[in-house]
Amino acid sequence: MAQRLAFIGLGRMGAAIARNLLKAGFPLSVYNRTAAKMQPLIDGGATGARSPREAVAGADVVVTSLMDDQSALDVVTDDDGILAGLKRGAIHIGTSTVSPDCATRLSELHATHGSTYIAGPVVGRPDAAAAGQLQTFVAGDAQAIARCERIFAAYAGATFNLGTEPRLANSMKLVVNYVLMSLVELMGQVYAFGERSGIDLQLINMMLASIVAPPALKEYATRVRTRDFEPPGFELIAGLKDVQLILQASTETRVALPYASTVRDKLLAAVAHGMEHKDWSAIYEITRMMAGLK
Ligand SMILES: NC(=O)c1ccc[n+]([C@@H]2O[C@H](COP(=O)([O-])OP(=O)(O)OC[C@H]3O[C@@H](n4cnc5c(N)ncnc54)[C@H](OP(=O)(O)O)[C@@H]3O)[C@@H](O)[C@H]2O)c1
Repeated sequence: MAQRLAFIGLGRMGAAIARNLLKAGFPLSVYNRTAAKMQPLIDGGATGARSPREAVAGADVVVTSLMDDQSALDVVTDDDGILAGLKRGAIHIGTSTVSPDCATRLSELHATHGSTYIAGPVVGRPDAAAAGQLQTFVAGDAQAIARCERIFAAYAGATFNLGTEPRLANSMKLVVNYVLMSLVELMGQVYAFGERSGIDLQLINMMLASIVAPPALKEYATRVRTRDFEPPGFELIAGLKDVQLILQASTETRVALPYASTVRDKLLAAVAHGMEHKDWSAIYEITRMMAGLK
């Protein structure tokens, strides 16, 4: 019999992941803080809930897609939160990009409750989520991970198992985001340099597309080239959250990650210029301003 699932957090990523779980045939109960976002899922066959507690009642597995450490912890520990309704023996898969420490804390909270936490952050933008082609890093109890294979397969084209310590999956996600944000920042520098030098930017775009093969990076190369930052795939304010997680991890591990400081400073400037809800590749606008480009 199919596992009964609950899904909490129907944002850009969550709504797409939840839709794929429905498509794969799992009975699904959903909750989102802004209730209107539940309707398309309810229309697709999910059951709507009034709280995380109600959503997880009877669920074998709950999947969450929340924003940050605070929201991930609150939704688990609130009076009407996940732990208030989750049965013993159930599993929680956390797909949000949170700090490694947050993954450890969530794992401890579940262990005390008698349930199991799997860290399962995802790589890929909302279009990859809609296509069921995310990549996911998973870490936690091996048996629980084995029980969730069909669930991962419903939204991820590739699943990488990082072992039994949940925090490792989130450290790995920070590795990917560090590389990604450094490359997008680099693209912006190159376009601004190209424009100042008088190079045909289409040529730079072609060169970048041949160097950076993954579809998401090609999309970024074009977004930066065309300065088309709306609608956002990943909001700039969420990018700022991620670079802060990277800087925190850099301090904890005593490994300098110098590009992160550059990216953080430019994202801060972009927020100060009112760009927090644009796609985070709008970091390029700050590079342009610094170069005196209009
Ligand atoms: N977008 C991407 O390209 C991408 C790619 C990989 C990973 N991620 C990660 O995936 C996660 C979700 O990102 P997203 O782009 O889908 O963001 P989003 O569209 O802003 O969605 C965020 C979700 O979290 C909920 N939420 C936020 N704060 C909350 C709180 N305090 N209590 C309850 N619910 C709360 C929101 O509810 P409301 O609807 O009520 O606001 C919404 O459902 C983040 O951790 C992000 O870093 C994003």
